[in-house]
Amino acid sequence: MHMQWESLANEHILGIAPYEPGKPVEELERELGIPDAIKLASNENPLSPSDRVQQAIMGALSHLNRYPDGSGFYLRQAIAKKHGFTPDQIMLGNGSNDLIELVVRAFMRPGDEAVVPHPSFVVYPMIVQAVGGIRVMVMLRDYRLDLEAMARAITPQTKVVFIANPNNPTATMVTADEVEHFMARVPERTIVVFDEAYIEFAMGARRSCSARSRRRRASRGSASATQSPTRTRSR
Ligand SMILES: Cc1ncc(COP(=O)(O)O)c(C=O)c1O
Repeated sequence: MHMQWESLANEHILGIAPYEPGKPVEELERELGIPDAIKLASNENPLSPSDRVQQAIMGALSHLNRYPDGSGFYLRQAIAKKHGFTPDQIMLGNGSNDLIELVVRAFMRPGDEAVVPHPSFVVYPMIVQAVGGIRVMVMLRDYRLDLEAMARAITPQTKVVFIANPNNPTATMVTADEVEHFMARVPERTIVVFDEAYIEFAMGARRSCSARSRRRRASRGSASATQSPTRTRSR
């Protein structure tokens, strides 16, 4: 008799609807009979890597017999210098997805709450569900993150709040003033994840809201609830 592997699996994981990535762009073009489709669904650069990047990759090929530097020593130094931080404040991941997942796994315990805007990046509620957390979904208002409602949704059980800036899929942004007002209402024990995976597309070289807000964190205030968010206990 075959083992029912599902009976051994973590029940939080079993309840997750699999994420379905879009089909390859070549397949879409073939299906629709169109050339030069532009794929906007992924966090990709439509321009090819620059010559310098291509040369660096070619130069690295002859060292592929070695493990890469897992601590990203030089990369963290370069990023820290560019953004005015120290290397120990920089953490690298396989894309921002990896870092979002690590934050949730590091800080959330079963029964902890995460405030999640909706609709937004589909991975947030999936990861919270995977660790047995409670997803507190807060609807967008006029396609924008409703930071007022998100602040009201924070309870003593809230461990993490996600802010996608710009938001996927609506492409709207929160303003620096909204962020500062919001941060003033977030308790110390709640971690706010600013996910700016698409910030360069939206702002180019201009500084992001979260970078401004990190430097000027306003004092905290109290909030009263007037709107009920959707609370979903992970199964
Ligand atoms: C808001 C948001 N955050 C993070 C990601 C993941 O991006 P990365 O390719 O950096 O893992 C995406 C990808 O679509 C996204 O839309």
